[in-house]
Amino acid sequence: MKKIGIIGTGYVGLVSGAGISDFGHKVICADIDKEKIKEIKKGNILIFEPGLKEIIDRNVKSQRLSFSSNIENTIKQSDILFIAVGTPESASGKADLTYVENAALKIAHNLNSYKIICTKSTVPVGTGKKIKEIINKNKPSAVLFDYVSNPEFLREGSAVKDFLWPDRVLIGCENNKTYESMLDVYRPLFRNKKPIIKTDIATAEMVKYASNAFLALKISYINEIANLSEALGCDIKKVADLMGQDGRISPKFLHPGPGYGGSCFPKDTKALSNLAKQENIPLETVNAAIKANIYQKKRMFSKLKALLKNRVKGKTIAILGLSFKPNTSDIRESSAIEIIKSILKEGGIVKAFDPISNNEMKLIFPDIKYFSDWEKTVDNADCMVIMTEWNEFRSLDLKELKNRLKKPIIFDTRNIFDQNKLLELGFSFDTVGRKKIINY
Ligand code: UGA
Repeated sequence: MKKIGIIGTGYVGLVSGAGISDFGHKVICADIDKEKIKEIKKGNILIFEPGLKEIIDRNVKSQRLSFSSNIENTIKQSDILFIAVGTPESASGKADLTYVENAALKIAHNLNSYKIICTKSTVPVGTGKKIKEIINKNKPSAVLFDYVSNPEFLREGSAVKDFLWPDRVLIGCENNKTYESMLDVYRPLFRNKKPIIKTDIATAEMVKYASNAFLALKISYINEIANLSEALGCDIKKVADLMGQDGRISPKFLHPGPGYGGSCFPKDTKALSNLAKQENIPLETVNAAIKANIYQKKRMFSKLKALLKNRVKGKTIAILGLSFKPNTSDIRESSAIEIIKSILKEGGIVKAFDPISNNEMKLIFPDIKYFSDWEKTVDNADCMVIMTEWNEFRSLDLKELKNRLKKPIIFDTRNIFDQNKLLELGFSFDTVGRKKIINY
């Protein structure tokens, strides 16, 4: 059993802390935000993540997992420290490393014995080197440490599952002794034959950015092919499905939609692009993915407007789904924000519903009406728009939907409805990448 300290209790810190304690280690999750720690200790984990509360409760009960706002003590009591603080986007598009550097400084000042310092936050290539320099400059000279880059590949909405059953774990480090210690942390995965791979520090850092940027690129690519399919009369669902059957392409992340959002892809693609600019290396594919995504988000409103025959002013539009994807309350960079903004700007009226993120959206749009079910949201609306593919929307009763709407008009930005059924019921509708039907 190792004694582990996690600095930062956001998505990555909390899920990693809970997961590592579930592997049998003693974990303290620490955060400078005293209020947050107070709430977590009371059992309010503040983020919606399937399975997270259960795994936290289980490990708190068995006394393997605890929470603290005393970072100094957490550092002193740990053999291995994970840095899992935020790396937000700075005004220039670069990753803001202030929190990471502060954490490194605090670790250096409280380094009372040999420890492994491991970064989980997504940081630009070269940050590990910087962190090592900060710690070396500020630590007591007699105490030693080793550094590890151990990036996370968690997806919001399935983060617990991703942590416990990862495709691979990367250990970017400089010697075998450190690698062996990290293998001990992840030992239960090792038994499940999950690859735990040793690389150098910079390679591990790069794999994280390159993976996120690649997935973002894949989405932007299928979105552009979807837009072209609309123009040429092809069905993107069939196109993507058949492309995905080629093992080299795979069907994953090949779902067209209203543009990618969340706290990772938009920020990480920009950070990687900035890193390339700094090195004077062209990274045109990633730049194009960023540009295509901005366009895709804007395109959603143009499509809605066309579906409403250019008459948005005074129209009531029901928006179903506000989070950037299902199973999360996170609305950061959600495409719903962009479309709501445009509807309001053109004088439209918005009624909105998300199974869990209404409160989050209220902070951005306090004046629109929010509802607690889809039925009331669509009542008497001129049009219904699906922005997030929550499961409960997939199975909603289309006949009832038609009766409740003022006019049977749907914009399905996630392609969740059966077009034949919509046709049969006499809906006018648009999608992303499929034929548009306007029959009113
Ligand atoms: C992403 C990566 O998938 C994780 O591997 C990574 O660890 C994480 O970022 C991170 O860096 O922390 P996440 O942002 O939680 O995870 O969400 P994704 O499931 O990747 O979805 C991102 C966006 O792409 C969403 O807006 C989603 O709707 C969109 N998307 C995804 C599509 O439009 N089409 C797809 O086929 C897949």
